[in-house]
Amino acid sequence: MQSTQVSTSILGNQIVEPVYSEHGMMLIKKGTVINNDVLAKLLSHNVDVVYVLNALKGNVEKKSMIPEPQMEKSVKAIKRVFDDIMHQEKLGVKAVIPYENVKLVEEVLELLLETLEQADEILYTVVDLLQSDAYTYKHNVNVAILSILTAKALDYKIEDIRHIALGALLHDIGKMRVPQELINKPGALTLEERREVEKHPELGYEITESVSQIPYLAKQIIRLHHEKLDGSGYPLGLKGIEIPEYVKIVTVCDMYDAMTTNRIYRGKMPIYRAMDVLMTEAVYKIDPKIYRTLTSTICIFPPGSGVVLSDGRVGIVSNYRNANPSRPRVRVLNLGSINNYLEVEEINLENERTLFIKDTWDVELFSEMALK
Ligand SMILES: [Fe+2]
Repeated sequence: MQSTQVSTSILGNQIVEPVYSEHGMMLIKKGTVINNDVLAKLLSHNVDVVYVLNALKGNVEKKSMIPEPQMEKSVKAIKRVFDDIMHQEKLGVKAVIPYENVKLVEEVLELLLETLEQADEILYTVVDLLQSDAYTYKHNVNVAILSILTAKALDYKIEDIRHIALGALLHDIGKMRVPQELINKPGALTLEERREVEKHPELGYEITESVSQIPYLAKQIIRLHHEKLDGSGYPLGLKGIEIPEYVKIVTVCDMYDAMTTNRIYRGKMPIYRAMDVLMTEAVYKIDPKIYRTLTSTICIFPPGSGVVLSDGRVGIVSNYRNANPSRPRVRVLNLGSINNYLEVEEINLENERTLFIKDTWDVELFSEMALK
């Protein structure tokens, strides 16, 4: 409970102490959710301060593994490196990463390693990026974060983790040599267009091949990140053990991030659906051990996530156990019942085995809009 100045910032919060007028008349009942009408009433009676509970969030804060400033700095640096390749391509030069840009990628790598080292719990939230043109840069950073976590969980040596992360940061750099209208095309690609886009691993390899500062592992990742265990991948159609494990780490993380991010041609897939798709793929195409490691490394529904339960109720994740992150504790909300009362009930999905999370919803968007 906190006392708060009456302003638009309390919209959506719940009144926890009844509010009286200066003549002692009750103005607002305890439990009322503050909408525009309630706010207008408070202001017209010159009420300055009310006791509220941010009922939607309680004391739950949505955390991200990489704080926004570090994320922004990383994406900006990757954008510079990638755009430089696109620029060289437009000039008709054979594009190569210059030494100072390799340095820039190494700096991003150190920043990510350092930030992840300081994170004290298993937590990762995918940050949506709606601007399609920025997608490739952000995606490469996300995949590097996931790859670092997965490689760490698989007990890779720090030197190898560095090389894997460098490969992940640059894995789609070849896309800068593919016509951008194909990369950003809203809608399905024709067979011919798809073949063009599928050249990006080889083009990326060409960009990095002659650069001695980029380690061999990273170059292999750039070249082979679309290979699949059953031989259905590209460019070489390698099978099973022909694909090195460090490449397979980036492949799984790449697929996971691509599926859970908004793209120009489709909305993002809910995380639980991405998990299902990956699980199905895992049977023939991706390494099940890596899949299991990734899914136990990331938190699918971090605290603060809006979730929809299988019985249709909506709620917010309040907590979870590392051993069972897909069955967290959920603060279930009952909105819009009599007198605007907002009931909050906490349930533990570890005990409610018949319930499951069927969808997610955007808490921030809801707080801003739904109660106006
Ligand atoms: Fe790719």
